[in-house]
Amino acid sequence: MKKKVVSAILSAAMVASLITGCGGSASNGGAASEAAPASEAAPASEAAAPASEAAPASEEAPAADAADTAANGDMTIGIAMPTKSLERWNRDGSYLEEQFKAKGYNVELTYSDNKIDQQVKDIEGLIADNVNLLVVAAIDGESLSQVLAEAKESGIPVLSYDRLIMNTDAVSYYISFDNYTVGTLQGQYVIDQLDLDNAGDKTYNIEFTAGDPADNNAGFFFNGAYDTLKPYIDKGTLVIPSGQSSFEQVATKQWDTATAMTRMQNILASNYSDGTQLDVALCSNDSTALGVTQAIESDYAGTNTVIITGQDGDEANLANVVDGKQSMTVYKAVANEAVATIDLADAILKGETPDAGLIDNAGWSFDCAYDTESYDNGTGVIPSYLLVPTVVTKDNIQTELVDTGYYTMGDDGYPHPVQ
Ligand code: GAL
Repeated sequence: MKKKVVSAILSAAMVASLITGCGGSASNGGAASEAAPASEAAPASEAAAPASEAAPASEEAPAADAADTAANGDMTIGIAMPTKSLERWNRDGSYLEEQFKAKGYNVELTYSDNKIDQQVKDIEGLIADNVNLLVVAAIDGESLSQVLAEAKESGIPVLSYDRLIMNTDAVSYYISFDNYTVGTLQGQYVIDQLDLDNAGDKTYNIEFTAGDPADNNAGFFFNGAYDTLKPYIDKGTLVIPSGQSSFEQVATKQWDTATAMTRMQNILASNYSDGTQLDVALCSNDSTALGVTQAIESDYAGTNTVIITGQDGDEANLANVVDGKQSMTVYKAVANEAVATIDLADAILKGETPDAGLIDNAGWSFDCAYDTESYDNGTGVIPSYLLVPTVVTKDNIQTELVDTGYYTMGDDGYPHPVQ
């Protein structure tokens, strides 16, 4: 099923490049300190999906008819992404840009180098350019209240993309994955791998590494994992030798790989240099898992394979999964997150007030829940569209990532993202 979506996206990308070629579309990431990625055209072999695989236009491809698409050409979408230094946001930016363009919209895409002030400036620039709608993945969920008040005053709807933006009533909707479930999938993976329900008197050592405290998602990921493992921690089956068990203690500023590595090196030196065995490194995402894996490779004396979790399906991490250095990653199909965002934005710009009906009418081939309870940003609950994450291991990389069209399997034996 997912294959069809990707095929549709790739076809859409081709349409987009045709439109661009006719001079009908504009992109401008100029205000940002990090240049927007030139959206790479899909390699011809991938773009030319066999007709049997391509989604029928009526079903998956952007549903806009020619008249709609032409009308959209008067409108510009402002997209503010956090940074290019974390791999996934490059994919998000490209997918969003391509698909909005395929619907005929102009796009301004900014990346803010993980700098809060820069992102505020970038969004100010987008407002000054009179964008018709903003899609924002915040660097710091707490720092955008003022600039988004300006957006609201200018009548610009704001979609909170992937990360919830806090303390502002300017946000109309939130599109993300079920973030708590990401953590529960990681926790459940550990339970299954160690067969903790049948552990008897056996004990296992675990260390946690979580994400950026400025990112509202990070707490959801950590809590999902910790809550799932807590019964085993309480029972003593799982032991945390470092004693670092609160989110504040295990958080990693800016999800930074080097920061995660240094922290794990310190933990290993203080708690494992006497031969204590580390069984699990529960990492909230791939950038932190990469640092933790490096620390274990360089500073861990044990010879056992440490279970290491992650999230995102970053290229380097998938290579580690193939090589057995990382056990799993929770994959979130950002191509589908982009599809949901585009359809939502399109409905809003057509004057609709989307709700659960958007999902029924869109006919997406991926699961998505409309949630009006879970995400309160301090000004009230923000209606949310939540997609479903998937566990990826060495055993299902082919079926989940390659057969679905998100990645190609290289001659080197490693998966590489299509975008
Ligand atoms: C989160 C996002 C994750 C991960 C992380 C680091 O907000 O949901 O997928 O990418 O940021 O950028």
